[in-house]
Amino acid sequence: MDFTKEMEAARQMVENRLQQFFPGGGLEEAMRYSLLAGGKRVRPILTMKFCEAAGGTQEEALDFGCAVEMLHTYSLIHDDLPCMDNDDLRRGKPTCHIKFGECVATLAGDALQAAAFQTVLSAKGEWRHGGQMYRALAAEILAESAGFRGMCGGQYGDTIGDGHSHTEAELTAINDKKTGALLRAACMMGVAASMGRRAVEESCMDAAREYAANLGLAFQIRDDMLDVTGDTGEFGKPIGSDASNGKSTYVTLLGLDACGARVLDYTEKAKAALKTGNWAGTTEFLEALADSMAVRTF
Ligand code: IPE
Ligand code: IPE
Ligand code: MG
Ligand code: MG
Ligand code: MG
Repeated sequence: MDFTKEMEAARQMVENRLQQFFPGGGLEEAMRYSLLAGGKRVRPILTMKFCEAAGGTQEEALDFGCAVEMLHTYSLIHDDLPCMDNDDLRRGKPTCHIKFGECVATLAGDALQAAAFQTVLSAKGEWRHGGQMYRALAAEILAESAGFRGMCGGQYGDTIGDGHSHTEAELTAINDKKTGALLRAACMMGVAASMGRRAVEESCMDAAREYAANLGLAFQIRDDMLDVTGDTGEFGKPIGSDASNGKSTYVTLLGLDACGARVLDYTEKAKAALKTGNWAGTTEFLEALADSMAVRTF
């Protein structure tokens, strides 16, 4: 398997599909600006690759993946607002509120969230094997991960905690919600996309959940490290944002070396979780993806 080539091919599929949404002006322009600003597209790629591992094709999960990316982009637009992290750079470009103002940025985020659910619930294709209910299942997974038990709940814990220090257990719980939840949805919705067309072992859904939970924890610790050691040009975000907000992160709690060790540990756990699923396809790409995220520089 050529990981870089497969990653790039999947990313290109996502880019091409995302470009078809929101062609208009006004609010759509702001939505498109943030959605198409770049980004690694890790979440939709996970959705597509989990569908493939569960016996499906990448195409079958493309719209679910794009929906997750819309929801993720909304979370980033709101995360950058002055009332939250107050950042002016995202994906190497001025943040949505710097470019369009706070009102439009808030609405662009709101509208992207609604569009995410619409995209899941109208995802095209031949739904067999229990049929349409798998679109509803995917929407339910996404709703759970976006709301108070997921991303929003995590952002609440993260933001109201500014200036206060957390224990490692508290930080882990916050990170699991603010970052882990949406990655979990991405992976599980990929399995759901395959389940809508063929019989898939339930062990695959459980393995996807467990893989994503560990990947999410590794992912946020790596993000916190890059907030200190990263290069703005490459990272595409301001360096030192967490420190300027007085945020308690893994880096302030444990230091960079221990953070590096935690990232590797959670990455190994993520890869081990894959082995618990009875897959129709291969999980080789998903293992390599976890490894590549552990050493990412953007
Ligand atoms: C950034 O997510 C927010 C976190 C959860 C750390 P990504 O690192 O996936 O950002 P993009 O999508 O590549 O811009
Ligand atoms: C927030 O974490 C993740 C979201 C749920 C948006 P961060 O605040 O660390 O994300 P970045 O560093 O701004 O991307
Ligand atoms: Mg934040
Ligand atoms: Mg932020
Ligand atoms: Mg960060």
